Amino acid sequence: MTAYAGFFEVGLPKKGDRVFVSAASGAVGQLVGQFAKFTGCYVVGSAGSKDKKTVANFQAFVDLLKNKLGFDDAFNYKEEPDLNAALKRYFPEGIDIYFENVGGKTLDAVLLNMRVHGRIVVCGMVSQYNLAQPDGVTNLANLIFKRIRIQGFGVADYYQLYPKFLEYVVPKIKEGKIVYVEDIVEGLEKAPPALIGLFSGRNVGKQVIVLARE
Ligand SMILES: NC(=O)c1ccc[n+]([C@@H]2O[C@H](COP(=O)([O-])OP(=O)(O)OC[C@H]3O[C@@H](n4cnc5c(N)ncnc54)[C@H](OP(=O)(O)O)[C@@H]3O)[C@@H](O)[C@H]2O)c1
Repeated sequence: MTAYAGFFEVGLPKKGDRVFVSAASGAVGQLVGQFAKFTGCYVVGSAGSKDKKTVANFQAFVDLLKNKLGFDDAFNYKEEPDLNAALKRYFPEGIDIYFENVGGKTLDAVLLNMRVHGRIVVCGMVSQYNLAQPDGVTNLANLIFKRIRIQGFGVADYYQLYPKFLEYVVPKIKEGKIVYVEDIVEGLEKAPPALIGLFSGRNVGKQVIVLARE
């Protein structure tokens, strides 16, 4: 529902839009990418390596985004010393919609790469929640130069659209067109490390805690 409300109601996507999604393997990001493809957009996701020791493991992760979730492309933000250059590589003509899940340095680099009349959908800023001193954002003047709309939203404001959301997703789920990745841990005692893991990218997909199977 968060992905649906944010992408469609705030992002106002059109066929052919170029869409960038951060935290693209997460619960929200993986669906935004798929909704963007259904809408006929070009979509690139960023995510962090699940195992910093092996590049091969990240390659599998990029494959997940591209081959399973249907993103056009994906990159590892932890291996890109210059995010601005990375975005220019994936979006040589700029970004129409940025679906913001992380904030900080990513947002600053995105501002340099937005197209005129682009939209920034501010869903979350997970990189900033636990910082004593949040990162500064220095490229805000691009909001003026490029006439960008930046808008935060809370999913609770859109619950009246729940029937419309079900109408959109249920047939696609039944037809196997929507893929959903979950990261399941068993037992309440695993809940605290699983929660903390969200802030270091330990999860792949929606983090679920199973309390009992019956
Ligand atoms: N507006 C709303 O109503 C609403 C509702 C629900 C959620 N949210 C927000 O939406 C965002 C995504 O939520 P989610 O449930 O889909 O979470 P999630 O993506 O399943 O988990 C968080 C992910 O964020 C990434 N991350 C963590 N620390 C990071 C950092 N310092 N820099 C960059 N990426 C980092 C990690 O992925 P990597 O491996 O890629 O680093 C991690 O897997 C969050 O910011 C959340 O607060 C907003």
